[in-house]
Amino acid sequence: MNRREFIKTAAVAGAGLLVLPSGVRGGENAPSNKLNVALIGVWGRGLAHYDSLAGENVVALCDVNEKRFPEALKRFPNAKTYVDWRKCLDQKGLDAVVGCTADHTHAFIANWALNRNLHVYMEKPLAIAVEDARVVRANWLKKKAKLATQVGMQRHAMQNFNRVRELVRDGAIGQLTAAYAWGDRQIRRPGYLPAEGQPPEGFHFDLWLGPSPDHPYNPGYFSGGPGMNCLSWNMYWDFGAGQIGDMGSHTMDLLWNVVDAGLPTSAEAKGEKFNPDVTPVECESHFDHPANDWRGPIRVSWYQGGAMPASPKPYVDLKKIDHGAMFKGSKGYVIADFGSRLLLPFGDDSDLTYYKGRAKDAVLPPLGHFQKQWIDACKNPSLKTACDFEYSGNMIEQLLLGLVAYRVGKKLEYDGAAGKVTNCPEANELLSRKYRPGWTLNG
Ligand SMILES: NC(=O)c1ccc[n+]([C@@H]2O[C@H](COP(=O)([O-])OP(=O)(O)OC[C@H]3O[C@@H](n4cnc5c(N)ncnc54)[C@H](O)[C@@H]3O)[C@@H](O)[C@H]2O)c1
Repeated sequence: MNRREFIKTAAVAGAGLLVLPSGVRGGENAPSNKLNVALIGVWGRGLAHYDSLAGENVVALCDVNEKRFPEALKRFPNAKTYVDWRKCLDQKGLDAVVGCTADHTHAFIANWALNRNLHVYMEKPLAIAVEDARVVRANWLKKKAKLATQVGMQRHAMQNFNRVRELVRDGAIGQLTAAYAWGDRQIRRPGYLPAEGQPPEGFHFDLWLGPSPDHPYNPGYFSGGPGMNCLSWNMYWDFGAGQIGDMGSHTMDLLWNVVDAGLPTSAEAKGEKFNPDVTPVECESHFDHPANDWRGPIRVSWYQGGAMPASPKPYVDLKKIDHGAMFKGSKGYVIADFGSRLLLPFGDDSDLTYYKGRAKDAVLPPLGHFQKQWIDACKNPSLKTACDFEYSGNMIEQLLLGLVAYRVGKKLEYDGAAGKVTNCPEANELLSRKYRPGWTLNG
């Protein structure tokens, strides 16, 4: 059993055998064992966390839009309210933070929370720049024995993630050589929105901008429905990473869960013409990964906005899968969407005699409820989470490095230990972002 299989098994086994950390009294549901949680970003995606947090003490609610507080307070009446997450994180007695804010603040909130010894559940994407992902991961690795982290890639709990992993790991396609993930979402915008009107009363637009460069207010950034408003701002370079951070986080996870990779040694990308305001819609990026203990070197690829990997057979129309992954091996392919998979053995010796499916008792156990996995790990630090800041940090760092390769238009050689591109100085300039004065990434 390797690391990821161990994590899944340990998480499930541990869920039934809750060992309380020292200092926590009572049983799993005793009042003394409830977490004191701050929910930052209380509407939109924040609403999706209300039920999982209902069993804990939500003691702080933070949102840049004060109009969101009355509804949230109905659900969590004992919470204090804040408009600035930096002040919220200073509330005494907090144990844990759930972050559902705009993407450009995720790495900031995660770092500040970890630096205050708080467990963190952060919505995807964990970061929008390579350097930001690296700082968050490094902060967590120093404290991983006592703090639980999870990135909001909740599709990871779908049973199909395990099944795809088992097929590839158990040799159904022979030796893995390449893996591809793609998403077809296309939301085109010409550039940042022009100044229009004033923020409504109680909406702190300057705090919404936070660390990002100044832009004028426009209601168009806030016109989407709950949990969909991210599609009004996440394509702009200063507020997101486009579809890489959006569906890319979920879909690359379907691939990443299988390949047991760390950081790539190279990145190259191509896509539509560069727009200084807006991330590319159509783009593809490719990464080389060294061998690990169960496979040889592989190439990992990400396609978006209409770019697609070639189908292994004309009768398989990959375009019918809006968000999917494909694994190429020496004896065939596995093709998957989030909920199902196809095995396509091929070649003269692909008679499947080389492959033996798992015995029932070796099948990977279900992850269970994704948010609960994190809550359980907060209460018992020996439990693991599937999408912790190492797994998710490596994944998003790779994808964000692809955006850098797209911008410079060269194949980049990458030293993952140092976080440096070794063959292209101008690429190193693009690994980090410039922040507005007064905002500290690692505060
Ligand atoms: N895991 C998923 O499946 C999933 C689904 C949808 C959205 N998301 C993620 O959730 C996040 C929020 O997306 P959304 O569509 O709900 O966006 P949104 O614009 O509606 O923001 C959510 C809430 O956060 C508040 N907010 C924004 N920035 C803030 C800040 N700096 N401080 C405090 N509050 C702040 C907003 O006012 C709003 O109430 C995004 O990062 C998105 O990627 C994840």
